[in-house]
Amino acid sequence: MNRAAAARVATAGGRRRRPEGRPIVSEQQPLVVFTPSGKRGRFAVGTPLLTAARTLGVDIDSVCGGRAICGRCQVVLSEGEFAKHGVTSSAASLSPFSETEQKFTGQPALVAGRRLSCQAKVLGDVVIDVPPSSQVHRQVVRKAAEVRDIELYPLVTLHYVEVAEPDMHDPSGDLKRLQDALAREWQLEAVDCDLSVLRKLQPLLRQGAWKVTVAVHGRKRIVAVWPGYHEAVYGLAIDVGSTTIAAHLCNLTNGEVVASAGLMNPQIRFGEDLMSRVSYSMMNPGGAAKMTAAVRLALGELALEVTRQAGLERDDILEATLVGNPIMHHLVFGIDPVELGGAPFALAVDSSLTVTATELGVAFNPNARIYALPCIAGHVGADCAGVILAERPDLADEITLLVDVGTNAEIVLGSRARLVACSSPTGPAFEGAQISCGQRAAPGAIERVRIDRQTLEPRFRVIGSDLWSDDPGFAAATASIGVTGVCGSGIIEVLAELYLAGVITADGVIDGALASRTARIVPNGRTFAYVLHEGDQKLMIMQNDVRAIQLAKAALYAGIRLLMERLGVEKVDRIRLAGAFGSHIDVMYATVLGMIPDCDLAKVSSAGNAAGTGARIALLDSRSRGTIEEIVRRVEKIETAIEPRFQEFFVEAMAIPHKTAEYPNLSKAVTLPPRPEPAAAGEARAERRGRRSAPRAT
Ligand code: FES
Repeated sequence: MNRAAAARVATAGGRRRRPEGRPIVSEQQPLVVFTPSGKRGRFAVGTPLLTAARTLGVDIDSVCGGRAICGRCQVVLSEGEFAKHGVTSSAASLSPFSETEQKFTGQPALVAGRRLSCQAKVLGDVVIDVPPSSQVHRQVVRKAAEVRDIELYPLVTLHYVEVAEPDMHDPSGDLKRLQDALAREWQLEAVDCDLSVLRKLQPLLRQGAWKVTVAVHGRKRIVAVWPGYHEAVYGLAIDVGSTTIAAHLCNLTNGEVVASAGLMNPQIRFGEDLMSRVSYSMMNPGGAAKMTAAVRLALGELALEVTRQAGLERDDILEATLVGNPIMHHLVFGIDPVELGGAPFALAVDSSLTVTATELGVAFNPNARIYALPCIAGHVGADCAGVILAERPDLADEITLLVDVGTNAEIVLGSRARLVACSSPTGPAFEGAQISCGQRAAPGAIERVRIDRQTLEPRFRVIGSDLWSDDPGFAAATASIGVTGVCGSGIIEVLAELYLAGVITADGVIDGALASRTARIVPNGRTFAYVLHEGDQKLMIMQNDVRAIQLAKAALYAGIRLLMERLGVEKVDRIRLAGAFGSHIDVMYATVLGMIPDCDLAKVSSAGNAAGTGARIALLDSRSRGTIEEIVRRVEKIETAIEPRFQEFFVEAMAIPHKTAEYPNLSKAVTLPPRPEPAAAGEARAERRGRRSAPRAT
């Protein structure tokens, strides 16, 4: 810096001598550098930092528009010599801590060492750091195990304005003067207004003494107005599953999840699985409307629950995003899903949808916009779009396999180059249904199983206790919950362990010859069963249970294989298992059973509730909506029902782990029994025919 020149201080109107203690500035106007963006510019002495930031396009939050009400605009003065920027920055570079700042009592509180950028004025060259909490588009940190952070770009934004009072000489309407204020103070041009807001506008303006906070949707539409200053707006990310509905209430101004809740989908009373709900609609006039009413009521209850938890009202929900399989999606929107019950499984709509809460008939703020992610195909729904958005396989070079296991498995495979997707009719066996001792994951359900290779004796753990069944104290620890059944992950483990112990052969037969070695193998009609537990309830693994899992896992594998063939790959680099089942399953056992292809086990992991995460991303980062809509358009959809190769892949996949596929990675982790003679393909094919003729479900 030129020291001679630095002895001068620029003013708005010209130059004057630098008084003692004043900052060193160039003969030009002071240089203001914002970090971390690095944006910089010269501004007249006396310019508020917030004004400088806005001029440069620096991301600093503000709801009150610089009136020292909202506390969102806090910044930190960086002091010292900044050679990189050519700036010496000190306390004297800014106007002194003002009385307004000293008296500031708003929320968030002014953190010690910070300034309100709307109050602090530039006096000299200065470096200003904008902490993440003051950035509008801050990163919302996701759990460490998840893939990326979410960047905050909410569609609904808050704007505090002072509206001109009506004047006899200026006979404009209140809305016009509100629009003028939004344009003048927030550069929001041609903003429209929802009718229900308009109806309340006049009393609200007068109640707030012409100072109001306005919620604007997409910079285009006024969706709510509050008298005076209003702090936050909220949005709901909803995952409508066939069994449960989950919702996360998020603060749209900082991205935090403030409450979460889930409830059983009340449509269960119309049918346990999805196809029985479609059947209900077919058989009962008005059946679809009843299911629509039930799910909408449930959405209202969920909204009530989460807003109660957060000390809010349902009216505070101004935005929602929704994912769900195609049948759930259609029923929420009041579309009869009957066409999804049979070929060609035509969706009424596959693009994204945005409707108001009033149109949808859900008890949120009536002007809340509800955005549903696009569906991909007749059995690959908005939930799968949510998984893709959460996982972004399109950003990776490696071949990623995404599997969302439900009563229908939704499968996506690919990389940056290309994505293919299909659904496979696995049925509900993985969830414990169709299994004689199966039950939902709940206290008392066996979830982990080990079987001694010599004695064939089992040991297990149940949900609700950390002890293994052969640990001292197990009986006491489980006395109140009991040992009541086997949940989905337990079924996978017990069958895989039975296979590894030689009790089940590669073609899925419980070997009756072993009855001579252990009393746990008992005859059961013309087949045999394995006694897993004898207590209040006798839990047995029947031959039919093994067969049900074989059918489910063969359907899953065949769908995956079909996608691999379409993509022209022989192996996958990475596997992510989504959904509740995927969260609890042991990936090694899933591979032993041949549910998924061989893969480095370190690269096989749970994606958690990825569909719900996708809904949350779409809620908080509105830009992601365009992203997922674009990705979905280029996903290649494959209909397994009309692919002849599916049948071949299915038959080969009936064997455990597979009739022909190699499992080199798995073999490093566990000793697999030697591969047997080929299984009787005809038998499997006959079973498969029966299965494919059954209605499909997701
Ligand atoms: S902008 Fe609201 S307190 Fe500064």
